[in-house]
Amino acid sequence: MITNILRIFLTRSIKPFVLRSGQEGVPGLDEKNLGLYIHIPFCKKICSFCPYYKVLYNKDLMEKYIAGLLKEIKLVAALNENRAKITSVYFGGGSPALAINFLPEIMGRIRESFNISGNIGIELHPRDIDKDLIKNLKSIGFDMVSIGVQSFQEKCLHTLGRDNIDNIKKMRIAAEGGFEVMDIDLIFGIPGQIAEDIVRDFEIAANNGATQISAYPFIEFSYSDLKSGPAGRNIQKKMLEDLIDISQRKDFKRTSVWTFSKKGHGIYSSVTRDTYIGFGPGAASLTKNIFKINTFSVEEYIKCLSGGKLSTALTLKFNKRRRSLYWLFWSAYSLHLNRHSFRDLFNEELDSFFGFEIFIGKKLKLIREEEGGYEVTFRGAQLYHLIEQVYTHQYIDKTWKIALDDPWPEKIILY
Ligand SMILES: C[S@@+](CC[C@H](N)C(=O)[O-])C[C@H]1O[C@@H](n2cnc3c(N)ncnc32)[C@H](O)[C@@H]1O
Ligand code: SF4
Repeated sequence: MITNILRIFLTRSIKPFVLRSGQEGVPGLDEKNLGLYIHIPFCKKICSFCPYYKVLYNKDLMEKYIAGLLKEIKLVAALNENRAKITSVYFGGGSPALAINFLPEIMGRIRESFNISGNIGIELHPRDIDKDLIKNLKSIGFDMVSIGVQSFQEKCLHTLGRDNIDNIKKMRIAAEGGFEVMDIDLIFGIPGQIAEDIVRDFEIAANNGATQISAYPFIEFSYSDLKSGPAGRNIQKKMLEDLIDISQRKDFKRTSVWTFSKKGHGIYSSVTRDTYIGFGPGAASLTKNIFKINTFSVEEYIKCLSGGKLSTALTLKFNKRRRSLYWLFWSAYSLHLNRHSFRDLFNEELDSFFGFEIFIGKKLKLIREEEGGYEVTFRGAQLYHLIEQVYTHQYIDKTWKIALDDPWPEKIILY
């Protein structure tokens, strides 16, 4: 309901967002500040709370998948005459460390296909971390890692169905790698978790080498099978306030609605890019006016690529207003609306294009002026926290469910 009203208000249209089938609109790569995302959809054990596309690890399937992935990188790169300029590379999953033996070849293919600058990051499941892995990642060129700890408390790990791995030890091993960014993922609002638990988790992460801490509110998807639902909205809001408080005491700065970074370090964020290309099943790409998602089936993905075809399952064509709203949404997540990047991307002035929205935002004290644009206030960030949860739930839950059932859906209508 809330997203429906907001969509009509902001897009000035009653038309919903529609993802349609087909290859139409394969992204053009002539974007500035283009990021790459490589999805490795394999896990040793499936966690029921997790919405991302993944299947159980299987050596044979992984090998076939990597062959497809290498082809996809080549096909997409060939869409541009010149080697496209890439400003960040992220490997996510699933558990990308399970593909460690293939990562040098994948990175080699990326380097020969694109013009790479900027950071190279990877998500790690704590189970996969050991000294050899860290050494290998360093030698391949990774300078950012994000570790999915979720919680340091046994009772919370148990509720989530995660094995109780010695997360502190794993963090210390990773910290010895001396990465520019070491992000720790935590979840707050897990059933049975109390505010003291999440504050303690933040402290443990900060005291053991984290340069960034991402704390996500627990989102329950219709396909997760936990015995009880997440903590109520007010409890989660209070937990987020406590996290902001402890982050300040630990000298971390809030760098997005749900992330905190140690001053002087970079930021691990694969979602807040203006434009990006995603590789692998279930991966999304976003360019100036197109959003597309690859098929949610590793088998179908392999089949497409072995036939020399891309595996685009769904495409959404944006008009200018909707595309700029998408920009506004993700810029607000990172707490800054920058005039320069808006001008760069849309050839328009932020203050005139969004004059009305900015006026309302200032009046309601959701944003305030800062050098170069606007900063989202504490009040704005708290409102965003609520809206983002509804959006994530609706977008991911609906799209994922349909796309998982049918690898080639006709269309998906978003609210
Ligand atoms: C791709 S996942 C995990 C990466 C890695 N495979 C692992 O398990 O450690 C990225 C992050 O999303 C967050 N996440 C996953 N499911 C979530 C949910 N239902 N609610 C909130 N956060 C979630 C977790 O913090 C997780 O570390
Ligand atoms: S949380 Fe990580 S390990 Fe668990 S299913 Fe998701 S991607 Fe795999």
